[in-house]
Amino acid sequence: EGAGAPLTVNNGGNVWVPQRARPRRNRKSDAMRRMVRETIVTPANFIYPLFIHEESYQQEIPSMPGCQRHSLEHMLKECEDAWRFGVRTFVLFPKVADNLKSNYADECYNPNGIVPRAVSMIKERFPDSIVCTDIALDPYSDQGHDGVVKDGKILNDETIMQLCKQAVCQARAGSDVVAPSDMMDGRVGAIRDALDSEGFTDTSILAYTAKYASAFYGPFRDALDSHPGFGDKKTYQQDPANGREALVEAALDAAEGADMLMVKPGMPYLDVIHRLKTETNLPISAYHVSGEYAMMKAAVERGWLDERAAVLETMTCFKRAGADIILTYYAKQAAQWLCEDGLF
Ligand code: PBG
Repeated sequence: EGAGAPLTVNNGGNVWVPQRARPRRNRKSDAMRRMVRETIVTPANFIYPLFIHEESYQQEIPSMPGCQRHSLEHMLKECEDAWRFGVRTFVLFPKVADNLKSNYADECYNPNGIVPRAVSMIKERFPDSIVCTDIALDPYSDQGHDGVVKDGKILNDETIMQLCKQAVCQARAGSDVVAPSDMMDGRVGAIRDALDSEGFTDTSILAYTAKYASAFYGPFRDALDSHPGFGDKKTYQQDPANGREALVEAALDAAEGADMLMVKPGMPYLDVIHRLKTETNLPISAYHVSGEYAMMKAAVERGWLDERAAVLETMTCFKRAGADIILTYYAKQAAQWLCEDGLF
């Protein structure tokens, strides 16, 4: 009744709310939604993490249902399965025997160690793959820390000396991308120089730029048996309360020669992904970490979440926030779903 009333009738006598803009028009069919979709995730965006060990069997990881520690043979089978769904990039995490662990973590640059052997195996079978390797001492440290320990402190520069040896060793084995996850100051530049001076100018660096001292890494530490032997990692990993600090780290890593930047964990840190995206022109990776994976699996096991829908939504949200790359334990499964759906 009367001009400006919220509810009126049109010429046909039907109820009409007079308004010209109706955003629902762009959502009215599957074809329309696909046409206007801003964010498309494809299997090529994923990095698939693989836990490996020296045993000849696969071992389930109780806090990460569906993930296993693979024998090296089975690791190849896992790569092959993921490859069929379009996954091309893998990152390796070794479970190292206690008798090989030490404070200086010297096993991390043993050319016959598990990681160099695994890298050569994957590159031999899948020459077109991208193999990434983690640079950090913790799997090899008898202290369960990412650095050399002295008097209860993590030594920055001594640690970097070891990380450089580890990076060169991995590059020599054929690693395409080394990924320092240790958070020592200055390690990206030092690793870049170490690689370059050995002739590995083509080896990329994916820097864990904004890696937070997070409670969401617990299941990963179960998988590697790498829980800190004392204290926590707060003197090197970032305080979850800080967002601007990530920009300091990003500027340093970019200046030191990083090729790509990682934010970790993922879902609780989408704002950090977004900030880095607007501050740098380097590709950004999100790490959807073990605790995030475990949370979803636990809810799915109870029937509280639709796994497929929740996982694909999560992946899309990482990209929407600004991630170009997604490192996730769901990579193979999500890639399979994407292939089935033909969503790209
Ligand atoms: C350690 C490292 C960690 C993860 C990747 N590299 C654990 C830690 O910092 O203690 C965690 C990944 C995950 O939780 O999925 N260099």
